[in-house]
Amino acid sequence: MNDLFSLQDKVAIVTGGNGGIGKAIARGFASVGANIVIAARNEAKTAEAVLDISKEFGTRVIGVRVDVREENQIRALADKVLETFGRIDILVNNAGTNIRRLPQDYTAAEWDEVIATNLRGAFLCSQAVHPAMKAVKGGKVINIGSMTSIFGGSKLAPYGTSKGGIVQLTRSLAVAWAPDNIQVNAILPGWINTELTRQARKEISGLEERVINRTPVGRWGEPEELAGVAIFLASRAADFMTGVALPVDGGFSIMI
Ligand SMILES: NC(=O)c1ccc[n+]([C@@H]2O[C@H](COP(=O)([O-])OP(=O)(O)OC[C@H]3O[C@@H](n4cnc5c(N)ncnc54)[C@H](OP(=O)(O)O)[C@@H]3O)[C@@H](O)[C@H]2O)c1
Repeated sequence: MNDLFSLQDKVAIVTGGNGGIGKAIARGFASVGANIVIAARNEAKTAEAVLDISKEFGTRVIGVRVDVREENQIRALADKVLETFGRIDILVNNAGTNIRRLPQDYTAAEWDEVIATNLRGAFLCSQAVHPAMKAVKGGKVINIGSMTSIFGGSKLAPYGTSKGGIVQLTRSLAVAWAPDNIQVNAILPGWINTELTRQARKEISGLEERVINRTPVGRWGEPEELAGVAIFLASRAADFMTGVALPVDGGFSIMI
């Protein structure tokens, strides 16, 4: 029973793992024994995260520069991980971005940028790791959704579309890859204190207090609070769980 949540010697890729929620999940995985691949664009931030995590937990950690909008870079990521570790067990599709405007004000390029990062990137990364997961007779894909997977917002058309889409992508992959023993689940974070939401708080006056008042636990979440649920979904404790979208939101999604 002790090792129900162990990820000892597993190899986990975390897109956008150099900061915010992704880094917290990468640290969590390393704390239970996983080797980590941090896949993101900002190489300085990635190098810092690699150093922090490997020093703290002693597992193997590498960084790979990847823009998840670029299919060839995603294929190269999968190749690099296989070359380095010889296997891929876990993928967290966490890389994400947002552009806030009223629907009538988006350019097509802005729409494409958000969808390509949050949704198409998650699909292509999943597709790229599928053969490697099949080769080790199983795997775990964890997609990061949002409260906007459930709720709408006036300045969220592409972001909300991408995060709603990620729940449906989760279900489709879960059904298709169940025979390969690959479980695919989503986490829907509530309002979490990261760079992404620091920007939102600058752009939306009163957001800080509104979130506190609207959240039953009465506070914002911290990135570290996503680590436990990600470890659970990545571990054998969740082997019979697939296609689910789990809110981790301090009760935000259950209060009228
Ligand atoms: N914070 C919240 O309240 C909240 C709530 C719900 C959902 N989420 C979701 O959680 C995920 C992480 O967000 P966060 O809040 O931790 O924000 P963050 O600190 O801004 O992290 C976003 C990460 O995505 C990476 N990224 C962005 N575009 C990328 C691209 N084209 N290719 C590769 N990596 C890319 C960034 O790294 P580089 O810039 O180095 O590439 C960064 O590491 C996102 O999917 C977000 O939508 C956040």
